[in-house]
Amino acid sequence: MALRNVLKDEDPILRKKSREVKEVTDRIRTTMKDLVETMRFYRGVGLAAPQVGTLRRMFVAEPSPGEVYYMINPEIIEEEGTVSDTEGCLSIPDFYGTVERPEKVRIKALDMNGEEREYTFEGFAARVMCHETDHLDGILYSDKAVEMHTVEQELERLNQKVKEEDKERVKEEKEQAKQAKKAAKAAKEAEKAAAAAEEE
Ligand code: NI
Repeated sequence: MALRNVLKDEDPILRKKSREVKEVTDRIRTTMKDLVETMRFYRGVGLAAPQVGTLRRMFVAEPSPGEVYYMINPEIIEEEGTVSDTEGCLSIPDFYGTVERPEKVRIKALDMNGEEREYTFEGFAARVMCHETDHLDGILYSDKAVEMHTVEQELERLNQKVKEEDKERVKEEKEQAKQAKKAAKAAKEAEKAAAAAEEE
């Protein structure tokens, strides 16, 4: 296995259409393993062959840690719903963008043994698979992004999100405290009423 050099966005190779894999040979398998090593080294969740200069229709993806998919000649055969979210790419370092993707996809692809398999992916995993499949047609996510932002802006956005969630939590806690106070008052009044009733 070997670490490969990841091409960056201005490289014209990233804009080319990759060719179909005719046969899953040892050479193809080695490239796929190199893709996994390189993807993990750079802490990516997916890496397509053209990103390392190999214009073949294949990619690897690891949407959750330890769950590696080897996709050769992948084809999206069904799409369902749409969802807008943030994504990045090892070929476009220091940036993120908001892209609309299908919520659910069905994909057929050859595995490392050259066997055809079908998969269903949802949410983030579906997003990763669509992003990587696009690379095979020379499409970068920045082509589809409704908005691009830097790493700093992404961190700021996440911090803001945390703050807003905190605000929500504080509001909830305040509401709970108010309810508890009300309940205590009601209990006291009920006690008082009961005592008064006993005196009579
Ligand atoms: Ni990418």
